[in-house]
Amino acid sequence: MSETLVVVGSQWGDEGKGKITDYFATRADMVVRYQGGNNAGHTVVFGGNKYSLQSIPSGIFNPATVNVMGNGMVVNPVSVCEELDRLHSRGITDYKLFISTRAAMVMPWHAMLDGAYEEQKGKDLIGTTKKGIGPAYADKYSRTGLRMGDLLEPDYFRERLEAALEVKNMELKMLGLEPLDADAVYEQYMKLAERLAPMITDTSRLVNDALREDGQRVLFEGAQGMMLCIEHGTYPFVTSSSPSASSVPVGAGVAPKWIRTAVGVAKAYCTRVGSGPFPTELHDEIGDGIRERGHEYGTVTGRPRRIGWFDAVVGRYTAELAGITHWAVMLLDVLSGLDTIKICVAYDLDGRQIQSPPSTIASLSRCKPVYIELPGWKEDITGIKEFDNLPENAKAYVRKLEEITGVPVGMISVGPDREQTIIVDPELNKF
Ligand code: IMP
Repeated sequence: MSETLVVVGSQWGDEGKGKITDYFATRADMVVRYQGGNNAGHTVVFGGNKYSLQSIPSGIFNPATVNVMGNGMVVNPVSVCEELDRLHSRGITDYKLFISTRAAMVMPWHAMLDGAYEEQKGKDLIGTTKKGIGPAYADKYSRTGLRMGDLLEPDYFRERLEAALEVKNMELKMLGLEPLDADAVYEQYMKLAERLAPMITDTSRLVNDALREDGQRVLFEGAQGMMLCIEHGTYPFVTSSSPSASSVPVGAGVAPKWIRTAVGVAKAYCTRVGSGPFPTELHDEIGDGIRERGHEYGTVTGRPRRIGWFDAVVGRYTAELAGITHWAVMLLDVLSGLDTIKICVAYDLDGRQIQSPPSTIASLSRCKPVYIELPGWKEDITGIKEFDNLPENAKAYVRKLEEITGVPVGMISVGPDREQTIIVDPELNKF
């Protein structure tokens, strides 16, 4: 029997999935991305070195691990090549990487349109990464998109490109942008194809073969976070895919029966980049302190992240929807030094207490957090390796998160390095 594990972001992204994914990726035979694209920014730190990945799976550092970019992703071939160049320049040259023939391809017009749509929205902008993710998914679902496998059939690619540009150029002109030249795009993408062709294949075949093999460990790596989920997040301030463990079967091309354990990555507090309601947001020196201690600036865009207390309404909601079986509580060390720590346990919406987020931004913006307050701790916990050795108040805080969300904490991170990880539930070490 193979082992599988899904890593899912449970808040608004940037929870530290990179570290947790990397923790499990070191033992995985295969690491699979199943949604999103190069809007993700995974930071992996080991041996004192910091690496940042956007669309390439986190198993890339281990020469024996098979890395898969699944059909549910939107793949930008330009950005994949740039990421590979960056890895090569740091000595990472021995890896196995495969890209699904069926993955939607990000084309040059997608980023242009992403930027233009944002501009049109004025102050109501989503605050996207401007990588063209939304427009690429929109083309996929309107069935006008190109896919990575098209690169392997130049005539077919050309036909699809010309058909797409006929409409896209009208749109670009309408928005005051320069239309694109089919020949130039064709040349550019055929050059990229020369490099990427050996990696483009039927990845669902690869993943299913691995799943059927005894002793194989397959890790599914979610990007973004559940509150940015196109289905269940704070729509329209969301990304254009679903990071949920429920999306793994569709986005990787496997049966749902393979999905059992899902680690929900959650910061010990909350952050958000981009616009949209954020009920527990802090606008004071406590929030500023957390931002500085936690280095809360975006890995892709460098934007300062918005900071808030842990939102257990979101925790319960995302645990249920994403099928989270264990929490990985991240950045617990960043809360050290606070006198008291708050947890949001319900929302007050127009004088009524509610237990899960409302569906509209209009209502969510009116939600006021209902807090409980717990005593903080002063000790530096960055060197602690065992749960039992944490300060009593830190343990009580973690136990409270479990109690309110109804999901056990499987692991805790007390610093950026691989070594600074406390395993609370040894079950997780089975992977
Ligand atoms: P898009 O995915 O670029 O369309 O951006 C949509 C929203 O998702 C914006 O608020 C982005 O800031 C947010 N977002 C997308 N990817 C990430 C991520 O990896 N971490 C955090 N936020 C993200």
